Amino acid sequence: MDLIIKNGMIITSSEAYVADIAIKDGKIIAIGTDLEEKGAKVVDAKGKMILPGAIDVHTHLAMPFGGTVSSDSYLSGTRAAACGGVTTVFDYPMQRKGSGILETVKGRREMADTEVCVDYAFHCIITDLNDGKILDEFEEAVNYGITSFKCFFVYKKEGMMVDDATFTKILLKAKETGAITNLHAENPDLIDLNIEKFLKEGKTSAWYHYLSRPEYVEAEADKRAVHIAKSVDAPLYIVHMADKEGLEAAVEAKMDGHDIYIETCPQYLEFTSEVYKREDGRNFVCSPPIKGQESQDALWKAINTGAIDTVATDHCPFQSYEKDWGKDDFTKIPNGCAGVENLYPYMLSKANEGKLSFNRVVELCSTNPAKIFGCAQKGSITVGKDADIVIYDPEKEFTISVDNMHSDYDHTIWEGKKLKGYPVQTYVRGALVYDNGDFVGTPGFGKFVKRVGRK
Ligand code: URP
Ligand code: ZN
Ligand code: ZN
Repeated sequence: MDLIIKNGMIITSSEAYVADIAIKDGKIIAIGTDLEEKGAKVVDAKGKMILPGAIDVHTHLAMPFGGTVSSDSYLSGTRAAACGGVTTVFDYPMQRKGSGILETVKGRREMADTEVCVDYAFHCIITDLNDGKILDEFEEAVNYGITSFKCFFVYKKEGMMVDDATFTKILLKAKETGAITNLHAENPDLIDLNIEKFLKEGKTSAWYHYLSRPEYVEAEADKRAVHIAKSVDAPLYIVHMADKEGLEAAVEAKMDGHDIYIETCPQYLEFTSEVYKREDGRNFVCSPPIKGQESQDALWKAINTGAIDTVATDHCPFQSYEKDWGKDDFTKIPNGCAGVENLYPYMLSKANEGKLSFNRVVELCSTNPAKIFGCAQKGSITVGKDADIVIYDPEKEFTISVDNMHSDYDHTIWEGKKLKGYPVQTYVRGALVYDNGDFVGTPGFGKFVKRVGRK
């Protein structure tokens, strides 16, 4: 044995019990009472909770976007992940017209492999079918461990949008090859119509980012996507769900037995569209935008009924000077916010407040992501799984500030947010990577997670 974590309260998606955990060669090899072995390092976790590391299935690290590149590299983004109890991130390399899936993914692996501080996997964004050649590559990509492909219904001018026919072809090919299709659902034509109107009227503040993409804009696309996925009987994973009407349509389809999964993000659970009226409203600009109170209430309800499957971050930070490009024109604000370091502490703090159970947080942030996206070795504190472990102090008070985060950005939408409870240690495959406020891991230690398809 290399390490024994003793006396902690182990939290799984369905249980909570006090036990010791023994770790060898990066794996959990025993869970029991009074585990001992000479030579093993012993950590006493009495009074603490022991959780599986979070799996953030939605990040955009070093992503060329919005006229710049998102400000966290694979190094700084995964360093921040480690410090927030995230032990695996799923990043989103983007296939572009003329290039292949494996070419794209392998290129990003070259960037990531020497930098990553926690384990990582890739979904691949598909923006163009290259006359069908991309569909022919799906099987090889799945065998390589890329078992999810993402489509954007938006970002038309950026050349990232797919139309309904392309989306349907991807849905079907993904199903045939044992993969799943992820979707960013908003209606691009309605957005453009609204933007044109507001700019003509001189309405240029961040508030009009929200008003150009309000609830109905997302709902139409959610409903269209659900309708198509149902009609062709293919699995669909809707990313960053933020609106009530679309959520309800997706939940109804799930209840009818369709293979539909729903992700939301902490920013939609904590803030409402009112933030866009603030002086620093542009810092909250992300797409889809944060919606009104009714949508937030519906999201929390779906968290508690079990209808939402995952909470992930859509981590895509930009520096203040880049957000400032849109001071006088909301369309020039790079879309995206930071969150990877805040995901688990925020959700666990909500559990501490009684808003949901600790088991449910584990399910949403670790167990379900592992199951949905084919990471059999992760997502739970179980003998045989990777020793991706967070020791959490439910009593520790923590106030989020850009000064105590570990990313490379210079502001956070979470500034000043007080949390009850905070991770004190994070282990990735048995190696300590975060210790009481400090990153203690090693860039390049993280490994690519080769996922298994659904067939
Ligand atoms: O505003 C966002 N969400 N930026 C990142 C790209 C995306 O749409 O997920
Ligand atoms: Zn998106
Ligand atoms: Zn995203």
